[in-house]
Amino acid sequence: MFRPPLPLRAETPPAWAEAALADPEGLLSDHAHCEKKAALTALSLMHAFPGEVRIPLLLAKLAEEELNHFRRVLEAMQGFGWALRSDAGNRYAQGLLENLEKRKSSETRLLDRLLVSALIEARSCERLHLLEGAATGHSELGEAPWLAFLVELERCEAGHALVYLRIAEERFGAAVQPRLDEWLDREADVVRGLPWRSAVH
Ligand SMILES: [Fe+2]
Ligand SMILES: [Fe+2]
Repeated sequence: MFRPPLPLRAETPPAWAEAALADPEGLLSDHAHCEKKAALTALSLMHAFPGEVRIPLLLAKLAEEELNHFRRVLEAMQGFGWALRSDAGNRYAQGLLENLEKRKSSETRLLDRLLVSALIEARSCERLHLLEGAATGHSELGEAPWLAFLVELERCEAGHALVYLRIAEERFGAAVQPRLDEWLDREADVVRGLPWRSAVH
């Protein structure tokens, strides 16, 4: 049985995937932007770890994987004859980031940024898994190479969620679990409040 890498508290109904597949070109275009932003997030978090090398290296590998995903989603789109649309924004990520209160200490903000990043990866993983099931037999996205790519993406995003969580635990120790508990509730509220569209979030 599938289990997301974090214990998400709002399970996405399988019907979501059919709604997301209503506009496959829009779905892939949005996802390309998501992969690009995931690479940028990993790169920007590196500034928080001066004087270290192991965590920047973990983040560099993660950014490299996201950039690889970005390129391959673009290649898949090119194969389907589709073009990248302008970025319509990601209300899910924005909803989470709005909860990062600016007055908090920079250390608390760093913990929150790591946990939000882990949650975004975990939610992506959950939804990619649903897309795999729904895309099988779908006229445009049901092709074997594309499905294999979706499976690979799902596994990678699960790994990324755990990397962010591990970095948080190394830096913040016992403070992580109570904070994660709060964020799991917030993430569930955000995801439940969003309309379904042709996008992973
Ligand atoms: Fe990715
Ligand atoms: Fe990722």
